[in-house]
Amino acid sequence: MILQQSWIIVAAVLYFLDLVKPGALLLTTACSSFFLSGFVGLVSDVSNAKEGKSLIKKYKIENKIKKEIFKNIEFNELEIRNLNYSVENKQIFKNFNLEFKKNKKYLIVRESGKGKSTLFRIIFGIIKNHSGDIFINKNINYKDLSDKQIKKIISYLPQQPTVFDDSIRNNVNLWDKSIKDEKILEALKKVNLLNIDKQSLDTKINPDNKNFSGGEVQRMAIARALVEDKQIIIMYEITASLDKFNRKSIEDLVGDLNKTVLYISHTTELDNKNFDYVIKL
Ligand SMILES: Nc1ncnc2c1ncn2[C@@H]1O[C@H](COP(=O)(O)OP(=O)(O)OP(=O)(O)O)[C@@H](O)[C@H]1O
Ligand SMILES: [Mg+2]
Repeated sequence: MILQQSWIIVAAVLYFLDLVKPGALLLTTACSSFFLSGFVGLVSDVSNAKEGKSLIKKYKIENKIKKEIFKNIEFNELEIRNLNYSVENKQIFKNFNLEFKKNKKYLIVRESGKGKSTLFRIIFGIIKNHSGDIFINKNINYKDLSDKQIKKIISYLPQQPTVFDDSIRNNVNLWDKSIKDEKILEALKKVNLLNIDKQSLDTKINPDNKNFSGGEVQRMAIARALVEDKQIIIMYEITASLDKFNRKSIEDLVGDLNKTVLYISHTTELDNKNFDYVIKL
Protein backbone atom coordinates (compact mmCIF):
# COMPACT_ATOMS: atom_id res chain seq x y z
CA MET A 1 0.00 0.00 0.00
CA ILE A 2 2.78 2.40 1.00
CA LEU A 3 4.69 1.43 -2.15
CA GLN A 4 1.64 2.19 -4.28
CA GLN A 5 1.05 5.63 -2.66
CA SER A 6 4.67 6.64 -3.22
CA TRP A 7 4.36 5.61 -6.84
CA ILE A 8 1.28 7.89 -7.22
CA ILE A 9 3.22 10.85 -5.67
CA VAL A 10 6.13 10.27 -8.10
CA ALA A 11 3.64 10.12 -11.00
CA ALA A 12 1.93 13.39 -9.87
CA VAL A 13 5.32 15.20 -9.71
CA LEU A 14 6.15 13.95 -13.22
CA TYR A 15 2.75 15.25 -14.44
CA PHE A 16 3.24 18.74 -12.91
CA LEU A 17 6.70 18.94 -14.43
CA ASP A 18 4.92 18.15 -17.72
CA LEU A 19 7.11 15.11 -18.24
CA VAL A 20 4.23 12.63 -18.76
CA LYS A 21 0.80 12.73 -20.42
CA PRO A 22 -2.39 12.22 -18.31
CA GLY A 23 -3.30 8.97 -20.21
CA ALA A 24 0.10 7.46 -19.60
CA LEU A 25 -0.14 8.58 -16.01
CA LEU A 26 -3.49 6.78 -15.54
CA LEU A 27 -2.17 3.66 -17.20
CA THR A 28 1.04 3.52 -15.14
CA THR A 29 -0.92 4.10 -11.93
CA ALA A 30 -3.34 1.26 -12.77
CA CYS A 31 -0.44 -1.00 -13.77
CA SER A 32 1.52 -0.13 -10.68
CA SER A 33 -1.50 -1.02 -8.60
CA PHE A 34 -1.84 -4.32 -10.44
CA PHE A 35 1.86 -5.26 -10.23
CA LEU A 36 2.30 -4.00 -6.69
CA SER A 37 -0.68 -5.95 -5.43
CA GLY A 38 0.74 -8.98 -7.25
CA PHE A 39 4.11 -8.36 -5.66
CA VAL A 40 2.63 -7.91 -2.18
CA GLY A 41 0.50 -11.04 -2.75
CA LEU A 42 3.60 -12.95 -3.77
CA VAL A 43 5.44 -11.85 -0.63
CA SER A 44 2.49 -12.92 1.50
CA ASP A 45 2.21 -16.27 -0.37
CA VAL A 46 5.87 -16.96 0.29
CA SER A 47 5.41 -16.19 3.96
CA ASN A 48 2.23 -18.36 4.08
CA ALA A 49 4.09 -21.18 2.38
CA LYS A 50 6.87 -20.84 4.93
CA GLU A 51 4.33 -20.93 7.74
CA GLY A 52 2.66 -24.01 6.15
CA LYS A 53 5.99 -25.74 5.84
CA SER A 54 6.80 -25.13 9.47
CA LEU A 55 3.31 -26.43 10.45
CA ILE A 56 3.89 -29.62 8.45
CA LYS A 57 7.29 -29.97 10.09
CA LYS A 58 5.69 -29.53 13.54
CA TYR A 59 2.99 -32.11 12.67
CA LYS A 60 5.64 -34.57 11.50
CA ILE A 61 7.64 -34.16 14.70
CA GLU A 62 4.50 -34.58 16.86
CA ASN A 63 3.56 -37.74 14.92
CA LYS A 64 7.04 -39.12 15.33
CA ILE A 65 6.90 -38.54 19.08
CA LYS A 66 3.45 -40.18 19.21
CA LYS A 67 4.70 -43.18 17.25
CA GLU A 68 7.63 -43.56 19.62
CA ILE A 69 5.37 -43.35 22.69
CA PHE A 70 2.88 -45.85 21.26
CA LYS A 71 5.39 -48.27 19.78
CA ASN A 72 5.73 -50.36 22.92
CA ILE A 73 2.93 -49.53 25.27
CA GLU A 74 3.52 -51.09 28.67
CA PHE A 75 -0.10 -51.72 29.57
CA ASN A 76 -1.16 -50.77 33.08
CA GLU A 77 -4.83 -50.04 32.79
CA LEU A 78 -7.65 -49.58 30.35
CA GLU A 79 -10.50 -47.27 31.13
CA ILE A 80 -13.82 -46.89 29.35
CA ARG A 81 -15.26 -43.47 30.17
CA ASN A 82 -18.85 -42.51 29.67
CA LEU A 83 -19.53 -44.86 26.75
CA ASN A 84 -22.74 -44.41 24.81
CA TYR A 85 -23.58 -46.64 21.90
CA SER A 86 -26.79 -47.27 20.00
CA VAL A 87 -27.53 -49.44 17.04
CA GLU A 88 -30.77 -49.09 15.08
CA ASN A 89 -32.34 -46.90 17.79
CA LYS A 90 -31.50 -49.46 20.45
CA GLN A 91 -29.28 -48.07 23.20
CA ILE A 92 -26.83 -50.82 24.12
CA PHE A 93 -24.55 -48.75 26.38
CA LYS A 94 -25.60 -45.66 28.30
CA ASN A 95 -23.08 -43.61 30.32
CA PHE A 96 -21.11 -46.81 30.76
CA ASN A 97 -17.80 -46.88 32.69
CA LEU A 98 -15.39 -49.74 33.20
CA GLU A 99 -11.77 -50.15 34.22
CA PHE A 100 -9.33 -53.03 33.74
CA LYS A 101 -5.99 -53.28 35.50
CA LYS A 102 -2.78 -55.11 34.68
CA ASN A 103 -2.79 -58.88 35.35
CA LYS A 104 -6.25 -58.86 36.94
CA LYS A 105 -8.92 -61.33 35.84
CA TYR A 106 -12.38 -60.00 35.05
CA LEU A 107 -15.47 -62.08 34.59
CA ILE A 108 -17.91 -59.95 32.64
CA VAL A 109 -21.43 -61.27 32.66
CA ARG A 110 -24.32 -60.03 30.60
CA GLU A 111 -27.45 -61.71 29.34
CA SER A 112 -27.71 -62.87 25.77
CA GLY A 113 -28.44 -60.18 23.24
CA LYS A 114 -27.52 -57.35 25.63
CA GLY A 115 -24.18 -56.27 24.22
CA LYS A 116 -21.33 -58.65 25.09
CA SER A 117 -20.11 -58.97 21.51
CA THR A 118 -20.62 -55.25 21.07
CA LEU A 119 -18.46 -54.51 24.12
CA PHE A 120 -15.72 -56.78 22.81
CA ARG A 121 -15.86 -55.07 19.40
CA ILE A 122 -15.54 -51.67 21.05
CA ILE A 123 -12.57 -52.73 23.21
CA PHE A 124 -10.93 -54.43 20.23
CA GLY A 125 -11.30 -51.22 18.24
CA ILE A 126 -13.67 -52.67 15.61
CA ILE A 127 -16.58 -50.37 16.51
CA LYS A 128 -15.48 -46.74 16.55
CA ASN A 129 -18.67 -44.75 16.15
CA HIS A 130 -19.48 -44.64 19.85
CA SER A 131 -19.30 -41.61 22.09
CA GLY A 132 -17.16 -41.49 25.20
CA ASP A 133 -13.49 -42.35 25.41
CA ILE A 134 -11.24 -45.30 26.00
CA PHE A 135 -7.90 -44.59 27.62
CA ILE A 136 -4.87 -46.76 28.13
CA ASN A 137 -2.68 -45.84 31.10
CA LYS A 138 -4.87 -42.76 31.73
CA ASN A 139 -3.37 -40.66 28.94
CA ILE A 140 -3.33 -42.66 25.70
CA ASN A 141 -6.62 -42.18 23.92
CA TYR A 142 -7.84 -44.98 21.64
CA LYS A 143 -8.59 -42.27 19.07
CA ASP A 144 -4.83 -41.74 18.69
CA LEU A 145 -4.12 -45.43 18.15
CA SER A 146 -4.28 -47.36 14.91
CA ASP A 147 -6.06 -50.73 14.72
CA LYS A 148 -2.65 -52.33 14.45
CA GLN A 149 -1.46 -50.70 17.66
CA ILE A 150 -4.58 -51.86 19.55
CA LYS A 151 -4.10 -55.41 18.29
CA LYS A 152 -0.51 -55.31 19.51
CA ILE A 153 -1.82 -55.07 23.06
CA ILE A 154 -4.99 -57.19 22.91
CA SER A 155 -5.64 -60.67 21.62
CA TYR A 156 -9.02 -62.27 21.20
CA LEU A 157 -10.13 -65.83 21.74
CA PRO A 158 -13.46 -66.71 20.18
CA GLN A 159 -15.99 -69.30 21.30
CA GLN A 160 -15.06 -71.60 18.42
CA PRO A 161 -11.40 -71.14 17.57
CA THR A 162 -10.33 -71.92 14.04
CA VAL A 163 -8.31 -75.10 13.66
CA PHE A 164 -6.09 -75.42 10.62
CA ASP A 165 -5.36 -78.65 8.79
CA ASP A 166 -1.71 -78.33 9.69
CA SER A 167 0.84 -79.20 12.38
CA ILE A 168 0.39 -78.38 16.06
CA ARG A 169 3.34 -75.98 15.68
CA ASN A 170 1.67 -73.97 12.92
CA ASN A 171 -1.65 -74.07 14.72
CA VAL A 172 0.00 -72.40 17.70
CA ASN A 173 2.45 -69.99 16.12
CA LEU A 174 0.20 -69.29 13.11
CA TRP A 175 3.17 -69.69 10.75
CA ASP A 176 5.18 -67.05 12.52
CA LYS A 177 8.65 -68.57 12.32
CA SER A 178 10.08 -66.10 14.81
CA ILE A 179 8.14 -67.96 17.52
CA LYS A 180 10.49 -70.73 18.53
CA ASP A 181 9.54 -74.30 19.47
CA GLU A 182 10.67 -73.74 23.06
CA LYS A 183 8.16 -70.93 23.45
CA ILE A 184 5.39 -73.06 21.90
CA LEU A 185 6.17 -75.98 24.24
CA GLU A 186 6.23 -73.67 27.23
CA ALA A 187 2.79 -72.28 26.29
CA LEU A 188 1.39 -75.78 25.69
CA LYS A 189 2.67 -76.80 29.11
CA LYS A 190 0.99 -73.79 30.68
CA VAL A 191 -2.34 -74.82 29.19
CA ASN A 192 -1.84 -78.41 30.39
CA LEU A 193 -1.37 -79.98 26.98
CA LEU A 194 1.50 -81.83 28.57
CA ASN A 195 1.93 -84.85 26.38
CA ILE A 196 3.19 -82.79 23.45
CA ASP A 197 6.96 -82.85 23.00
CA LYS A 198 9.21 -81.30 20.35
CA GLN A 199 8.65 -84.16 17.87
CA SER A 200 4.91 -84.08 18.26
CA LEU A 201 4.82 -80.41 17.27
CA ASP A 202 4.84 -81.83 13.72
CA THR A 203 1.69 -83.84 14.39
CA LYS A 204 -1.10 -82.76 12.13
CA ILE A 205 -4.34 -81.58 13.60
CA ASN A 206 -7.12 -82.82 11.43
CA PRO A 207 -10.17 -80.66 12.03
CA ASP A 208 -12.50 -83.29 10.50
CA ASN A 209 -11.12 -86.36 12.26
CA LYS A 210 -11.44 -84.54 15.53
CA ASN A 211 -8.20 -86.00 16.89
CA PHE A 212 -8.33 -83.04 19.29
CA SER A 213 -11.27 -82.62 21.65
CA GLY A 214 -13.13 -79.33 22.03
CA GLY A 215 -11.35 -78.71 25.34
CA GLU A 216 -7.95 -79.41 23.79
CA VAL A 217 -8.68 -77.06 20.91
CA GLN A 218 -9.59 -74.32 23.39
CA ARG A 219 -6.34 -74.94 25.28
CA MET A 220 -4.43 -74.72 22.06
CA ALA A 221 -6.16 -71.43 21.28
CA ILE A 222 -5.09 -70.12 24.69
CA ALA A 223 -1.53 -71.26 23.93
CA ARG A 224 -1.83 -69.30 20.66
CA ALA A 225 -2.65 -66.18 22.66
CA LEU A 226 0.22 -66.88 25.05
CA VAL A 227 2.89 -67.11 22.36
CA GLU A 228 1.54 -63.94 20.78
CA ASP A 229 2.45 -62.35 24.08
CA LYS A 230 -0.23 -59.67 24.13
CA GLN A 231 -0.90 -58.03 27.45
CA ILE A 232 -4.69 -58.34 27.44
CA ILE A 233 -6.62 -61.43 26.38
CA ILE A 234 -10.33 -61.20 25.68
CA MET A 235 -11.96 -64.61 26.03
CA TYR A 236 -15.42 -64.69 24.59
CA GLU A 237 -17.63 -67.54 25.87
CA ILE A 238 -14.67 -69.85 25.41
CA THR A 239 -16.03 -72.61 27.62
CA ALA A 240 -19.63 -72.42 26.45
CA SER A 241 -19.44 -75.67 24.49
CA LEU A 242 -17.31 -77.62 26.97
CA ASP A 243 -18.29 -80.15 29.61
CA LYS A 244 -18.03 -79.30 33.30
CA PHE A 245 -14.61 -80.89 33.82
CA ASN A 246 -12.96 -79.07 30.91
CA ARG A 247 -14.69 -75.86 31.83
CA LYS A 248 -13.35 -76.00 35.35
CA SER A 249 -9.79 -76.77 34.31
CA ILE A 250 -9.76 -73.95 31.76
CA GLU A 251 -11.10 -71.50 34.33
CA ASP A 252 -8.37 -72.59 36.77
CA LEU A 253 -5.85 -72.01 34.05
CA VAL A 254 -7.20 -68.53 33.34
CA GLY A 255 -6.78 -67.63 37.00
CA ASP A 256 -3.08 -68.49 36.80
CA LEU A 257 -2.20 -66.52 33.67
CA ASN A 258 0.20 -63.65 33.95
CA LYS A 259 -2.08 -61.46 31.80
CA THR A 260 -5.06 -59.20 32.04
CA VAL A 261 -8.03 -61.38 31.15
CA LEU A 262 -11.49 -60.18 30.18
CA TYR A 263 -13.59 -63.30 30.32
CA ILE A 264 -16.92 -62.52 28.75
CA SER A 265 -19.78 -64.88 29.48
CA HIS A 266 -23.58 -64.99 29.59
CA THR A 267 -23.53 -67.00 32.80
CA THR A 268 -22.23 -66.70 36.34
CA GLU A 269 -22.03 -70.45 36.84
CA LEU A 270 -18.28 -70.03 36.63
CA ASP A 271 -15.97 -70.71 39.52
CA ASN A 272 -15.53 -67.17 40.73
CA LYS A 273 -12.41 -67.80 42.78
CA ASN A 274 -10.41 -67.62 39.54
CA PHE A 275 -11.48 -64.06 38.94
CA ASP A 276 -10.49 -60.90 40.78
CA TYR A 277 -13.68 -59.13 39.75
CA VAL A 278 -17.11 -60.30 38.62
CA ILE A 279 -18.85 -57.54 36.70
CA LYS A 280 -22.52 -58.01 35.96
CA LEU A 281 -23.64 -55.63 33.28
N1 LIG B 1 -25.06 -54.54 13.36
C1 LIG B 1 -26.19 -54.62 14.07
N2 LIG B 1 -27.37 -54.28 13.54
C2 LIG B 1 -28.50 -54.33 14.27
N3 LIG B 1 -28.54 -54.73 15.54
C3 LIG B 1 -27.41 -55.08 16.11
C4 LIG B 1 -26.16 -55.05 15.43
N4 LIG B 1 -25.20 -55.46 16.27
C5 LIG B 1 -25.81 -55.75 17.43
N5 LIG B 1 -27.13 -55.53 17.34
C6 LIG B 1 -28.09 -55.70 18.42
O1 LIG B 1 -27.52 -55.24 19.61
C7 LIG B 1 -27.84 -56.09 20.68
C8 LIG B 1 -26.57 -56.58 21.36
O2 LIG B 1 -25.89 -57.45 20.49
P1 LIG B 1 -24.65 -58.32 20.94
O3 LIG B 1 -24.29 -59.19 19.79
O4 LIG B 1 -23.60 -57.42 21.45
O5 LIG B 1 -25.26 -59.17 22.12
P2 LIG B 1 -24.60 -60.37 22.93
O6 LIG B 1 -24.75 -60.04 24.36
O7 LIG B 1 -23.24 -60.66 22.43
O8 LIG B 1 -25.56 -61.58 22.58
P3 LIG B 1 -25.23 -63.16 22.58
O9 LIG B 1 -25.14 -63.59 24.00
O10 LIG B 1 -26.42 -63.74 21.92
O11 LIG B 1 -23.96 -63.38 21.82
C9 LIG B 1 -28.69 -57.22 20.11
O12 LIG B 1 -30.03 -56.92 20.37
C10 LIG B 1 -28.41 -57.17 18.64
O13 LIG B 1 -29.51 -57.59 17.92
MG1 LIG C 1 -22.42 -62.29 21.38
